[in-house]
Amino acid sequence: MAALELLQLNQSLPQLSLQREGEECLQRQPSDQPWSSQRVDIYEARFDDLLECAHSLSTAEQQRASRFVRADDAARYCAGRTWVRRRLSADLGVPIDELELAVGAQGKPEVPGHPIHFNVSHTDAHIWLAIAARPVGIDLELPPRDDPALLLQQIATQREWERARAAGITTERFLILWTAKEAVLKMLGTGLMTDPRSIELGALGGLDPRVVSVAGQWACLQRVPACDDAIAHVAIAGSQIEVRMKDWNTGKET
Ligand SMILES: CC(C)(COP(=O)(O)OP(=O)(O)OC[C@H]1O[C@@H](n2cnc3c(N)ncnc32)[C@H](O)[C@@H]1OP(=O)(O)O)[C@@H](O)C(=O)NCCC(=O)NCCS
Repeated sequence: MAALELLQLNQSLPQLSLQREGEECLQRQPSDQPWSSQRVDIYEARFDDLLECAHSLSTAEQQRASRFVRADDAARYCAGRTWVRRRLSADLGVPIDELELAVGAQGKPEVPGHPIHFNVSHTDAHIWLAIAARPVGIDLELPPRDDPALLLQQIATQREWERARAAGITTERFLILWTAKEAVLKMLGTGLMTDPRSIELGALGGLDPRVVSVAGQWACLQRVPACDDAIAHVAIAGSQIEVRMKDWNTGKET
């Protein structure tokens, strides 16, 4: 969803199939569990690598897929959600057909009954998955075409706005603040139902990772290297973070 659309919004069975013909689609590699409480595993996959995999979706997910207007959106949703299920299943050591996903009150997907939290973010070409032992949020965004000053005004507190104005408002500065705030809001599980101006992250860029206080709890926020011109942040509940980048297919640390 484009940044501006999101801002406007704020204003206002399973099958066990890991193979495609003769080819392994995802290697099942149990992770080196248990996670330490500050650890976040991040996987990045290209939809091009996922689109031909056989789907493993629940009935509710299949119904959601059928509601997409555009066929390529539906295809990306099915491929992405199947991959997320397979990664969680591999990491938890739970058969994919026994893995149930639920949705929190404000739409955040969860794995009830397991000591694991995850969050997803995607662009048209890539999908990122963060897995942790604590509530986690991840956001990846490509540069928007809209005026960065207009966008920034809608997400920044007065202090953040003044700081950005003094440094010079650029699309990159907007994106850094935007992905940081969205990662934190996704960690909290409210997403943009919470006004991004209601949290203050201050100056970003100098101190990374950084600990912030939001909604009465600590969150630790870190920028993650992203491909193309994208900018990404991950946030985990607590005051420490240890990010591990993992291969989308093998699950091994990269
Ligand atoms: C959730 C939200 C932040 C996603 O922003 P986005 O930049 O368009 O999309 P991203 O690619 O970064 O993230 C999308 C993923 O976030 C996750 N997500 C959805 N709602 C979420 C929430 N409340 N908190 C955290 N993560 C959420 C989902 O996994 C989703 O991917 P999926 O639908 O393929 O599973 C944004 O749509 C939002 O806040 N909406 C308001 C909440 C809402 O509409 N809830 C509806 C149900 S009450």
